[in-house]
Amino acid sequence: MEERYEQQNEIGRGGIGTVYKGIHTLLRRDVAIKELREIFSVFGDIQKDTIIDKFERCVQDHARLVHPNIIQVLDIDTDRQYPIFVMEHAPAGSLRDLLNRPEKPSLSDRLNIFLQIAQALRYAHRVGVIHGDLKPENVLFDAEGNVKVVDFGLTRIIERDSRSQQIYVGVGTVAYLSPEQFRNPKDVTFQSDIYSLGILFYEMLTGKLPGRRSPMPSSFYPNIPRKLDDIFDRMCMDAEEDRYESVDAMIEEFLASEEVTALLGRVTAGAAPMMSAPMAPPPAAAPAPAPAPAPAPAMSAPAPQAPTSSASLPAARPVSSSAAMPAVSAPAPQAPAPAPAPEEEASGDSDSDILAKLNKYAGKF
Ligand SMILES: Nc1ncnc2c1ncn2[C@@H]1O[C@H](COP(=O)(O)OP(=O)(O)OP(=O)(O)O)[C@@H](O)[C@H]1O
Ligand SMILES: [Mg+2]
Repeated sequence: MEERYEQQNEIGRGGIGTVYKGIHTLLRRDVAIKELREIFSVFGDIQKDTIIDKFERCVQDHARLVHPNIIQVLDIDTDRQYPIFVMEHAPAGSLRDLLNRPEKPSLSDRLNIFLQIAQALRYAHRVGVIHGDLKPENVLFDAEGNVKVVDFGLTRIIERDSRSQQIYVGVGTVAYLSPEQFRNPKDVTFQSDIYSLGILFYEMLTGKLPGRRSPMPSSFYPNIPRKLDDIFDRMCMDAEEDRYESVDAMIEEFLASEEVTALLGRVTAGAAPMMSAPMAPPPAAAPAPAPAPAPAPAMSAPAPQAPTSSASLPAARPVSSSAAMPAVSAPAPQAPAPAPAPEEEASGDSDSDILAKLNKYAGKF
């Protein structure tokens, strides 16, 4: 393993470990290496075995996720002083970096980033994997500005000891934790991720974290459609059963709003999140083009473990060079939706309808 990867500079540290930039020595490709040094330094030998066990299971879960908006896990090594896993390197910084910049991306660009995060989560949930620690630090960008979510399930490596009630490091980040996770980190569910996504959404819209009596996003910025207030509100309900039943349901409502899809259509061409130049004005509204040969970034990759048949999904298209993206404008997508599969519920959009909408609007950088 040591020979296979050349470890370079430290990128940063979190609650669980330290991330280094690295190079796969044979392939000469950049990688990121996460080393569990911090956590290992505070636990005894017996606990270390348990941690390694959990680490392996968590990384295996993460590795099952093959999606254009999720960092791909490439390798693991637990047979060394500090266990590591190797993943794709995301060179364009994190959503935290982006939110810290004085020059904020346009609302359209932020909504597109949000939609990509939601799609990553939607896919992970369909495969049965909970993130558990969604926050801007765990949303990264590749060189084309596509979202790459990292650290799925890693907070499960360390859990609260139910007898001592002591909370260890790495259980999640307080501001984004759902009430049930806050009470007991082991209670993390799909709905907990939806809650964290809601907090993240509010922060992306307003630049602030929501508090109990915070105003709704549209009262900060009147250009924010009221529908987005409702979507935030429903994601962040205290009771899990009051939140959306799935990320799918949230995305469906998001894309059902013409006001929102009109904004999504105004993505800045070639707007990578880390751009430093001022953004170009939004392209003039034009009639929605027919699905172009120019590829949309990657929303169409079939979900291999998803419950629905991938046969009904649109064919995968390669990730585009962002400059090649045609302007997309509202209203709703023109792509013909295949007939719903018999087992699908009668109400709501079918799976392929939603995928068709996603293909149309998401990932336009
Ligand atoms: N695959 C990657 N490519 C590039 N940078 C990465 C990658 N993974 C993590 N990073 C960066 O490394 C730094 C440390 O990440 P790390 O996950 O250890 O901390 P964190 O996300 O702040 O906290 P947590 O431990 O709760 O996840 C962050 O700045 C993160 O953006
Ligand atoms: Mg992280």
